Amino acid sequence: ATASASPDSTLASDSHPNRPFVIGVSGGTASGKTTVCDMIIQQLHDHRVVLVNQDSFYRGLRPEELERVHEYNFDHPDAFDTEQLLECMGKLISGQGVHVPIYDFKKHQRSSDSFRQVNASDVIILEGILVFHDQHVRDLMNMKIFVDTDADVRLARRIRRDTVERGRDINSVLEQYAKFVKPAFDDFVLPSKKYADVIIPRGGDNHVAIDLIVQHIRTKLGQHDLCKIYPNVYVIQSTFQI
Ligand code: ADP
Ligand code: C5P
Repeated sequence: ATASASPDSTLASDSHPNRPFVIGVSGGTASGKTTVCDMIIQQLHDHRVVLVNQDSFYRGLRPEELERVHEYNFDHPDAFDTEQLLECMGKLISGQGVHVPIYDFKKHQRSSDSFRQVNASDVIILEGILVFHDQHVRDLMNMKIFVDTDADVRLARRIRRDTVERGRDINSVLEQYAKFVKPAFDDFVLPSKKYADVIIPRGGDNHVAIDLIVQHIRTKLGQHDLCKIYPNVYVIQSTFQI
C-alpha cells in the first residue's frame, strides 16, 4: 500500500509512519471497557500508550440542569462535547501533548482549575460508551473494539460502582438505568457495535481476546517502526486465500 498522507494528517485511513496507532474501545456502561484498556496498557508496557476517556468530555451541567439532574440524560450523544474531544484527539495524533478535562461524577461538573496532562504517544486508546457514534471520531481509529458483557452483569456492577464510588443511592441508580441508560444503550450504543473490528465477550475475563489484540497492535507498531527506519520501502502485506 502506498501512503499518501500529509505529515499532520489525523485520519486513520492515511497511515503515515509517524502517526500514532489509535484504538477505540466501546461497549455499554460497566461492561469492562476501562478494565480491558488497563490490561492492554499493562501488556504494552514497553511502548508509550495513553488512555483518553470520553467521560472527560462530558459537558458540565448548568445550574438549572443541576437542579433537575434526575431528568438529565447522560447517555445521549449530546451530553458530550464531541468538538472538544475531536480537537484533543487531533492534537494527540499530530504529536502534541494536551490538557484533558477532569470530570467529577458526583458534582456533574468539570474541575475548573485542574487538567490531566497527556503526552504524545505511540498508541492512543479512546474509551467510552459512545466513541463509535460520531463518524468523525470513528474515522480517527485504526482499530475498534466492542466490549460485550451481559446487561444483568453490567447493571449489577453499575449499582455497586455508582453507590460506592459515585455517591448515588440505589433507587436513583435503578431509576436512571430504566429511564435513560437502557433506552440509550438500545438506541445508540448497540447500533454502533456494527462498526467494531473485534467484539470481546466477557470483557476483562477474556484473556485470549486481549492477548490476540495486543499481538495485533505489536505487529502494527512493528510495521510503523520499519517504515520509520526505511521510509522508502513499502511493506508488502501477504494475502492468504483458502
Ligand atoms: P466501564 O469502563 O465499561 O464502565 P469498568 O472496567 O470500569 O467498566 O468496570 C465497571 C466495574 O465493574 C468496576 O467497578 C470494575 O472493577 C468491575 N469489573 C470490571 N470487569 C470486571 C470483571 N471481569 N469481574 C468483576 N468485576 C469487574
Ligand atoms: O464508565 P461508564 O462507561 O459506565 O460511564 C458512562 C455512564 O456514566 C453513563 O451510562 C451515564 O449514565 C453515567 N453518568 C452519570 N452521571 C454523570 C455522567 C455520566 O451517571 N454525571
